[in-house]
Amino acid sequence: MKVSIIGTGYVGLVTGACLADMGNHVMCLDVDERKIARLRQGEIPIHEPGLDVLVRNNVAAGRLFFTTDPREGATYAPIQMIAVGTPPGEDGSADLQHVIAAARAIGRHMEGYKVIVTKSTVPVGTADKVKHAVIDEQKSRHLGNDFTVVSNPEFLKEGAAVEDFMRPDRIIVGADDARAIAMLRSLYAPFQRNRERIIVMSVRSAELTKYAANAMLATRISFMNEIANLAEAIGADIEEVRRGIGSDPRIGYQFLYPGAGFGGSCFPKDVKALQRTAQEAARPLRVVTAVEQVNEAQKHVLADKIRTRFNDNLRGKCIAVWGLAFKANTDDMREAPSLALIDDLVAAGATVRAYDPAAGAEAKKLFAESRSVSVVSSALGALEGADALAIVTEWQEFRSPDFAALKKALKTPAIFDGRNLYDPAALRAQGLEYYPIGRKQ
Ligand SMILES: NC(=O)c1ccc[n+]([C@@H]2O[C@H](COP(=O)([O-])OP(=O)(O)OC[C@H]3O[C@@H](n4cnc5c(N)ncnc54)[C@H](O)[C@@H]3O)[C@@H](O)[C@H]2O)c1
Repeated sequence: MKVSIIGTGYVGLVTGACLADMGNHVMCLDVDERKIARLRQGEIPIHEPGLDVLVRNNVAAGRLFFTTDPREGATYAPIQMIAVGTPPGEDGSADLQHVIAAARAIGRHMEGYKVIVTKSTVPVGTADKVKHAVIDEQKSRHLGNDFTVVSNPEFLKEGAAVEDFMRPDRIIVGADDARAIAMLRSLYAPFQRNRERIIVMSVRSAELTKYAANAMLATRISFMNEIANLAEAIGADIEEVRRGIGSDPRIGYQFLYPGAGFGGSCFPKDVKALQRTAQEAARPLRVVTAVEQVNEAQKHVLADKIRTRFNDNLRGKCIAVWGLAFKANTDDMREAPSLALIDDLVAAGATVRAYDPAAGAEAKKLFAESRSVSVVSSALGALEGADALAIVTEWQEFRSPDFAALKKALKTPAIFDGRNLYDPAALRAQGLEYYPIGRKQ
């Protein structure tokens, strides 16, 4: 089949590459000329395991193409997938300007029947807005409305995006048009060979499903963070509690990790947008509001621990920070808890030496103007001249460091661990001070 993807970011590029790998012909469109130029030269603009090989193979096989020309995108394929960003607007609602611009471009140039698929995370009612934007453009061309809008929210996780796309738990298709449903069934057939994964529902239910899923996952994290803070205050150990409750199949082990708060390009903005939808419907979501408040507070827990350890005097201190990406295996720093930590440390007068295995280039851009933050190229290099170490991202290379070298490098042998990576007793036995989340200090 032929597919056009509008928006070649994390979701668009992964979707395009995976669909091409199944034998489809895919045109990826983006307004970012530099990004498309890099892709055409074989450079992959994001860090995502397995994506580089997939993109290069499918470009070489003549199945994956890149363009900045909206006409080329709109005329290339009967399936038009919108995967542009939906950042939060000032009031927390999802900013739909890119989605509507993409819809208008399709309406302006399309020829023949189109299935317009929203893959971007969009609030309930967006499909209607997309439809009207397309109709509006068609009117000016005196054309009829030979298209349908489908909601097909994406559930891939950054860091495992290719794997998630290739082996989805479910494929949500919100549609009321049999022809469009049949086309998506055949597009997704190769991804569900051992069992049916497509769940067909109404467009509005599909739009809400994505937000409900992310809000539920965010709720688990904030819940665990609150219980972790309580555990710490009353002498319990959150890791023991986590194992104790995770063993209940109704609860399960996934997404039960306490930490320095959730970040990334999805949870924070989706939690906000869902609250906004609920307010507009006069059905405020009290649980979701609390999830966000808990998360905002949690992002400052590591900095509080560091300040307390140094008697509220961080002036002139240097803190090494391991991990800048919002989670491991990605270079994405959008809303990363590391940013809140670094802000707090710098505001308290400290300097920061930061290291991330993949987000270094992004961090160098973000901190280019800062005299207090330097981004270095190795974990050990970050420790040079540092008073203490804070860990924010659970990269594998941080899991088993050389503790003797670490102790030697740090002026104060203190580790503030926002991911609970280590065994507290083993670290203390080596003469290190260890400050995890929700465990005995
Ligand atoms: N990143 C994730 O893990 C993830 C997972 C599931 C769903 N989503 C959702 O998918 C959507 C895209 O997220 P992302 O992380 O891929 O965003 P992104 O910022 O990485 O990519 C969006 C791309 O769209 C391009 N774009 C903007 N307007 C355009 C237009 N009019 N025409 C063509 N291209 C345009 C941008 O230049 C950018 O390259 C969002 O709604 C997000 O919430 C993201």
